Amino acid sequence: MPDSKLEDCLARAGEKPHNLSPAEVEWLLGLPSSDLPALYQAAYRVKERVSGRSVSIRGLIEMGNVCAKDCYYCGIRRSNSRVRRYQLDKSDILRLSAWAYAQGYGSLVIQAGESESEAHTRFIEDLLPEIAALSGGALGVTLSLGEQEDEVFRRWRSAGAHRYLLRIETSSPRLYQALHPADHLYERRRRCLAVLRDLGYQVGTGVMSGLPGQSRADLAADIEFFRQMDVDMIGMGPYIPHPDTPLGKDRELTPEYRSSQLELGLRMIAVTRLYLHDVNLAATTALQALADNGREQGLLAGANVIMPNLTDLEYRRDYQLYQGKPCLEESAGQCRGCLEARVVGVGESIRWGERGDSLHYQQRFSSPLD
Ligand code: 5AD
Ligand code: FES
Repeated sequence: MPDSKLEDCLARAGEKPHNLSPAEVEWLLGLPSSDLPALYQAAYRVKERVSGRSVSIRGLIEMGNVCAKDCYYCGIRRSNSRVRRYQLDKSDILRLSAWAYAQGYGSLVIQAGESESEAHTRFIEDLLPEIAALSGGALGVTLSLGEQEDEVFRRWRSAGAHRYLLRIETSSPRLYQALHPADHLYERRRRCLAVLRDLGYQVGTGVMSGLPGQSRADLAADIEFFRQMDVDMIGMGPYIPHPDTPLGKDRELTPEYRSSQLELGLRMIAVTRLYLHDVNLAATTALQALADNGREQGLLAGANVIMPNLTDLEYRRDYQLYQGKPCLEESAGQCRGCLEARVVGVGESIRWGERGDSLHYQQRFSSPLD
């Protein structure tokens, strides 16, 4: 039975956003496992109020794995010479987009390793109107293409992108520096988020949980960071070691480690939902890499978005940010059926044909104080 302190805290958090002190956020993140069902249920009730018993869906296109950066945790980092690098051409992306639109997807996410060049900027700039044309402007497009100059963000916004995902990875500058080479700058990344917001994008960010050297206080600070940055969408997931990276090479994925990483990822989803209420929160693939039903568990802990992978099988193996990535053998069509069954299995339905803008974003523009 949950004790009365917990009941009181969860009830208060459910009443309105930001109704928890920093100490309570941290305390909830560290609840004993026996209290987790109560935590997840409270978060799910808030999610249900915000977006009903339904899940927004975006088709994920992993456009290329060429990356100029060298993050110590990431499987497609520049220095990993074992990766076969690829880049989809425009016709591939348009084919996947048309397929997604015909299937009832209302929204796409285009993701790739980070690269900054005029050719890359132009490629995306030319692509966006073509995706709009094939759907009569109906398909929403989210970009997830890393840090860029302000002008590049502006050009892509003008060309039709309306959301941007850029994870801060950790809100702690100290930890950020420990996880990246010296020329990867926390401040630049943070500034990009502010610029994106000013340009009118719906902005998403996120972190990894369970990173080496990360404390519970760091995770509580991550949730506070989401609030301070006033983001619309959050995509976060547990850190999963990749053997060909400096951070992951000596780390064994034991069953105990998997389940504790999964549990921490679910705690983060639930507490974030309880603290922020109206954001879009993704049940990310990393959850599923740790347990077959990891994403469904994410939905039941308060997530309301899933992003099935549309990338052709031929390339999926080459986009392994961490080990154990699921669905390496399933085509996009198979993923659709499998996903629908999974979502229905936990009592939710999929919002086919909708863009699924976050309520938080809609309210940013309807509030007279904004
Ligand atoms: N484990 C979990 N997530 C990872 N990412 C990169 N490497 C890993 C890893 N080893 C995440 C980062 C990045 C997103 C695309 O994938 O948060 O922003
Ligand atoms: Fe590609 Fe970090 S290694 S963005």
